[in-house]
Amino acid sequence: MHLSRWSLVLAGICGFAALASLNATPLSPAAPEKPFHAKLLEIAKHYKSDKFASPVDQHVAHWAPLLCRLPEAGKDYLPGKVRESASDDLDTHGQKLYFLYAKDQAAYLDLGEGAKPVPAGQFVVKESWHPVEWTPMKAPEKEAPLAPESVIRKDRTWYKPGKSAGLYIMLKTEANTPNTDEGWVYGTISPLTGKVTAAGRVESCMECHVKAKHDRLFGLPKEDVQRIKTFIEKTKKAP
Ligand code: HEC
Repeated sequence: MHLSRWSLVLAGICGFAALASLNATPLSPAAPEKPFHAKLLEIAKHYKSDKFASPVDQHVAHWAPLLCRLPEAGKDYLPGKVRESASDDLDTHGQKLYFLYAKDQAAYLDLGEGAKPVPAGQFVVKESWHPVEWTPMKAPEKEAPLAPESVIRKDRTWYKPGKSAGLYIMLKTEANTPNTDEGWVYGTISPLTGKVTAAGRVESCMECHVKAKHDRLFGLPKEDVQRIKTFIEKTKKAP
């Protein structure tokens, strides 16, 4: 009698545990195939909010040396050379303007110093734009004045961001996470639909990023990092 009461209690506990574990398992069949979509969409939604991420460099526009999305098959890319070679052929490589945001701005700026692997949780968002030629004297009257850092000069022409070319995201998870590149999740978000168009171990991204110096990240050129750090120091000291 005594024993059977205990077994009833035990059976109850086990039943509850089984139910609880059932509840914890996502029932949607799509979920296991798209393990990173929710996180990527969350990043896409909030990367501009202060609490979630920081602009790496106060919204200064940069040129992407080439289309992140379209690797040229068979070509060996070296980051240093990419900038130079791409700078000559704006049309063929469809260069883009981009702004960078990072979860941990300081860590992104310190890449390379000590060369530690990037810790899980860091993400970098490259917000890219198709460039549009901009002539200061001919700017339409209605156009709001553009901040100097949101236009960029190349040769003799000025450009400003035009249509969105989407988001390129890299998110670091634990190194042993399945379907990642040693922990890195690559993701793209369509500018038209706002949906995730690629996520996880994306071979086309890896083709270049496995060659990047700082644990899959290229980082910014040294002189840019210095300029940004000086700017941060100055603004900190300002009353
Ligand atoms: C053809 C080479 C190439 C391919 C392919 C490529 N990237 Fe990049 N990516 C670069 C280079 C070079 C940089 C460094 C800076 C730049 O673009 O100016 C970079 C920078 C980035 C950054 C900023 C973080 C950093 O410092 O590295 C992100 C995020 C990013 N790429 C995402 C992606 C994603 C997502 C894909 C795949 C859809 C991809 N890239 C494919 C070359 C490439």
